[in-house]
Amino acid sequence: MTAQLNARGDVAVLVPAAGAGLRLGPGGPKALRLLAGEPLLVHAVRRIAAAPSVRLIVVAAPAAEVEAVRALLAPVAAVTVVPGGAERQHSVAAALAVVPAEVGIVLVHDAARALTPAELIESVAAAVRAGRPAVIPVLPVIDTIKEVGLADAAEVVLGTVDRSVLRSVQTPQGFRREVLAAAHAAGLGAHTDDAGMVEKAGVPVTCVPGSELAMKITRPLDLVIAEALLAVA
Ligand code: CTP
Ligand code: MG
Repeated sequence: MTAQLNARGDVAVLVPAAGAGLRLGPGGPKALRLLAGEPLLVHAVRRIAAAPSVRLIVVAAPAAEVEAVRALLAPVAAVTVVPGGAERQHSVAAALAVVPAEVGIVLVHDAARALTPAELIESVAAAVRAGRPAVIPVLPVIDTIKEVGLADAAEVVLGTVDRSVLRSVQTPQGFRREVLAAAHAAGLGAHTDDAGMVEKAGVPVTCVPGSELAMKITRPLDLVIAEALLAVA
């Protein structure tokens, strides 16, 4: 059934989905790879569409797959599909460009985090609505982290990092629309997430609790884990 988005919602969700999925191994663009018989992108969009404040979903698809992605998502929700770019940030910029000016809150959410619950989308949006200009979902770091260097052609430990001040960062990352637009207008630079761009502009970034279900499907093992998580997601 096609989900109805909330025409009075104040949130646009941008879904970069144009990556090749190289680390997942051969099998085509990652967003179109199957999890329990359905493409990752379908799982992701279904959950985004279930978040009550979402008014608009913009997917950045692989350029060669735009029509196929439109057809794939039409039965899931009313989604705008644009061609993505060579780097993730170009895909985000292409999606941001079609968000109407009256939408005040923009979330950026990886298609690869296909099992992210609607509740996390709402909690990030709520923190932006409450006045935070930039919001990221985070989890504590579980492993011990070492800083290393090279000595006599071997990797050696320089020190142990205090992990209590470290966080693993997920998506969706939420922004006041003008904050994200200004960061993009200022030039892209190399950042591995969207908050990195606004941090550089001096904007405070606030953390909210993330979700194990928002794990990023990156390597083949992640698909196995995601399949198991589907039982609870
Ligand atoms: N993405 C995108 N445009 C790109 C590169 C990435 O829209 N040019 C998207 C991916 O589709 C994914 C998200 O950004 O949903 C996170 O990227 P990542 O997990 O790195 O996915 P891929 O780039 O597809 O994977 P890989 O790096 O292994 O090739
Ligand atoms: Mg990538």
